[in-house]
Amino acid sequence: MSPGTPRIEVVEGVSALARRGAELFVAAAAGAIAARGRFFVALAGGATPRPTYTLLADPGAPYRDRVDWPRLEVFFGDERCVDPDHPESNYRTAREALLSRVPLAAGNVHRMRGELPPEEAARRYEDELRRVFGLSAGDRPRFDLILLGMGADGHTASLFPGTSALVETRRLVCATYVEKLGAYRLTLTLPVLDNARALVFLIAGADKSASLARVLRDEPDPSVPAARVRPMAGSLTWVLDAETVELDRADRGG
Ligand code: 6PG
Repeated sequence: MSPGTPRIEVVEGVSALARRGAELFVAAAAGAIAARGRFFVALAGGATPRPTYTLLADPGAPYRDRVDWPRLEVFFGDERCVDPDHPESNYRTAREALLSRVPLAAGNVHRMRGELPPEEAARRYEDELRRVFGLSAGDRPRFDLILLGMGADGHTASLFPGTSALVETRRLVCATYVEKLGAYRLTLTLPVLDNARALVFLIAGADKSASLARVLRDEPDPSVPAARVRPMAGSLTWVLDAETVELDRADRGG
């Protein structure tokens, strides 16, 4: 599949979405480790990916034993500006569902420090990306896989419509104040997302149909942040729960 051309997969229900997410994670990890000895992955936040994380850690499911966990470097696509034990923390969600249940190497989980002042947290995360990826000035990290979700408004990671973070082209990580939330968020920027070897969106929720239609139409709507994700030299896969697509077809009289 040529880089940048979206691959769209429609699955029936959130369990199938979780299985597909786990399959894509395992495949990306195997490929990266075979080729380069390590797997650099950025996890998505929100609720949708949680079943995928739980499945990956489940010793009774066919995924856990297929991942060489000590070879992973785990990052996050975005984070809420809260403590790591806060119910809203993306790190807490991933820790509970996956990270505390698999044999990752000590020091290989790189969380965004939501408890710090936002700008300081963004700068620290950028420094950590440079250190772990061994980047020179001006280089961008090239993740093997970035998992993403999308909100009803079309935001992805914490790149929200109309925010300066969405149009940031130099920095790797931004602290961004989101008016509609009345809160700061931390997020990887589009140049980092677009530099990934593989981007996978996991999308469920009928409330996302309208934004999804604007993303996946022939001329994607640039006002929708998720529509701006275009890997330069990587694959882009949308795994969609049928409910989300069905409503879209209905909207379009399809
Ligand atoms: C976050 C996410 C965000 C998420 C969407 C969808 O921190 O909220 O990273 O981009 O993927 O908001 O969230 P749900 O999966 O909960 O619908």
